[in-house]
Parts: sequence; C-alpha cells; structure tokens
Amino acid sequence: MNHVAKLACGLALAGTVAATLQAQEMRPDRAIKFRQGVMYAMNVNIGVLSRMAKGEIPYDKDAAALRAKNLTELARMPWEGFVPVSHEGPRTKAKPEIWQDKAKFDKLAEAMQAELPGLVAATQSGELSRLKSALTPVADACTKCHDAFVNE
Ligand code: HEC
Repeated sequence: MNHVAKLACGLALAGTVAATLQAQEMRPDRAIKFRQGVMYAMNVNIGVLSRMAKGEIPYDKDAAALRAKNLTELARMPWEGFVPVSHEGPRTKAKPEIWQDKAKFDKLAEAMQAELPGLVAATQSGELSRLKSALTPVADACTKCHDAFVNE
C-alpha cells in the first residue's frame, strides 16, 4: 500500500470510530461513571489553578497554561454521559430536573465552556492577577449548574 492509500485508510477508520461514538448511547451505569470521572478530572485541573491563585502553591506559568488547556478539553466531554433516565440509584448526585429542563442544563454547560477561552488567555499572559480574575467566572459557572442540578 502506498502512503496516500494508507493515509486514506486511516482517515476512513477514524471517521468510522467518530461516527460510532456519536451514535452510541452509553448504558446508564457507565454513563454515570463516565460523567463523574470527567467532572472529577475537571476539578483536579481547576483545583491546581485555584491553589496557584490563592498562593497556596507557587505560580508556574507553563503549568497553569496546561491546566487551563486540559480543563477546556475536558469541559467538552461530560455531557455525553447525561443520557436519559440516569438520575436514579445511589451512585449519582444528578437531579431528575436535568431531564425535565435539558435546555437550561445545556445552556449552563455552554456558559461554563464560554468562560474557558478567557481563562486560557489569562494563563498564557503569564500574569497571576489575570489568572485570578479569569478563574472567578469559571468557578461561578460550575456553581450555577451545581446549585440547580446536583444533590450535594
Ligand atoms: C451544566 C451543569 C454542570 C456544570 C457547568 C458543571 N457541573 Fe460538575 N456536575 C454536574 C452534575 C449534574 C454532577 C453530578 C453527576 C453525577 O453524580 O452523576 C456533577 C458532578 C461534579 C463532581 C463530582 C464528581 C464525582 O466524582 O462524583 C465534581 C468534582 C464536579 N462536578 C466539578 C465541576 C467543576 C470543577 C465544574 C466547572 C469547571 C463543573 N463541575 C461544572 C453538573 C455540572
């Protein structure tokens, strides 16, 4: 197989995998694990930024930029795990209201993600004061959804 044919094969395969991911709805128990895992990873990344902002750990420009980038990538992911009828059982804190007002939930998910380019830009500037002010709206956007849709 020549290089071009190999590449085309690879691309075709990649296309199939992506399409399968989109079409396949997760089983509720797996979906719960998946969304909690992603949320947890988001929390680890924002947690490091928050500790830098508070001066609890030394400010490191490159580490901060990487954390902001990780958070941005992770923030795209948990939503796939909010499949219908997955608010039941002891393992989830998701409120049934998510599925009663999915439009509001989706809007809050988008609002949180909309704050992330600002956070990325702030970390890339290397200015700690910018990191501090860009973190607040992100954390507020997490809280806004949690207040409405998570059993604490
Ligand atoms: C649009 C709504 C929404 C937004 C925005 C959101 N979350 Fe969540 N989060 C949830 C829901 C719902 C759960 C409960 C999931 C479950 O238990 O099934 C959750 C769970 C969590 C958990 C617990 C995971 C576990 O191990 O059980 C953490 C930590 C978390 N979120 C952190 C964050 C952080 C940090 C942000 C912002 C960067 C954020 N969330 C933004 C809805 C949201």
